[in-house]
Amino acid sequence: MLGLLINTSLSNWLHSLEPRNSIATEYYSLIPKWRSGNIPFVDIAYDYNRSEHLRQASLIELLAANITPTKRSTIIDLGTGDGWPSLPLAHIRPKAYVLGIDGSEQRLARSRKNLSSLGLTNVDFLAADIRKIPVRSCTVDGVVASFAIEEAVDVGQAAREIFRVLKTGGFLKFIHQVWNLPAPRIETISLIQGIVNSDHLVPLLVHTIREGNPNREIRTVLVLDSSSAASEIHQKLLIDSAGLPTQYGEALLNVPSSQVIFKENILNHLKKLTRELFTYETKRYNTKDLVTLLNNIGFTNLENTRIPSVTLKTYPEIHTGSKYLFETMSKELAELNEIGEGVVTANKPIGVN
Ligand SMILES: C[S@@+](CC[C@H](N)C(=O)[O-])C[C@H]1O[C@@H](n2cnc3c(N)ncnc32)[C@H](O)[C@@H]1O
Repeated sequence: MLGLLINTSLSNWLHSLEPRNSIATEYYSLIPKWRSGNIPFVDIAYDYNRSEHLRQASLIELLAANITPTKRSTIIDLGTGDGWPSLPLAHIRPKAYVLGIDGSEQRLARSRKNLSSLGLTNVDFLAADIRKIPVRSCTVDGVVASFAIEEAVDVGQAAREIFRVLKTGGFLKFIHQVWNLPAPRIETISLIQGIVNSDHLVPLLVHTIREGNPNREIRTVLVLDSSSAASEIHQKLLIDSAGLPTQYGEALLNVPSSQVIFKENILNHLKKLTRELFTYETKRYNTKDLVTLLNNIGFTNLENTRIPSVTLKTYPEIHTGSKYLFETMSKELAELNEIGEGVVTANKPIGVN
């Protein structure tokens, strides 16, 4: 049990069922397509008229900035999800070899599918844990990651592994969620369609607690069975919770109206339709804490890299859709960090093996 101050009937109930302890990858294995199958370049071609696509493309350029275009370098992408940033990075750095690593079989299956439809030849995907990278020491030129390192159970162990596999002078550059909560404790719920055994759809109820001090995110995942009764109750909860205010794109439970939705009879019904119940905790950071952690491990040149802020409003020329224009401009746009996201860059010192 997590020993939390529980303030909604739903979280009380979920934790009273004593969920099995797990890790983040189990949750990711239940998601059919990460980011709903809408990842620019990976799932859908870049549309330079869409500011979100420009933003994603500029993040790829930012991650690629440390990779020399003319050199045959080896890059690892930790927690690649459905192949982001591995696939677009390999595309703009064709001389590099990119290895995407993930601990979730479902994510790897999607990454491999995306790779084959894009036809790139300089990418591979591998099943492994971020905390134990199956690569020889001092063999990798760069490690990148997007919203993944903080999900490893032991972030210090993950960072030591990254340090070990990097060549002397190699770089680490990763995107992370900057933990800056609007309240000390936020509870949300999402009702989504999950997948098991690669093609079997199941309804999921995902309860999330986000906390500061200590900074952490705790998810409890209730996997319902594939009966029509389970689908019906899932659908009803989805409709009812659509009336709740949202936070992080999920229905907020820290409001009295949420108590009305998750009444005792509903919860008892849900219990009978439950196939699996597990919980996992991930660590969260602000940039300063991450920088301290990496410094202590021996990384140098630590930098809080600014994320380019790209909007069509500010840069109407982008409407021309010219990739050259876009590449030139995005280098000039390093103005503001998008709220809630940070990019940290670091090096393994030269002379250290
Ligand atoms: C938030 S997703 C990010 C996916 C992708 N990088 C993106 O930005 O779209 C985190 C990914 O990290 C993977 N992951 C989490 N913990 C892991 C671990 N300990 N070992 C390997 N992969 C892990 C998950 O399976 C998931 O695919």
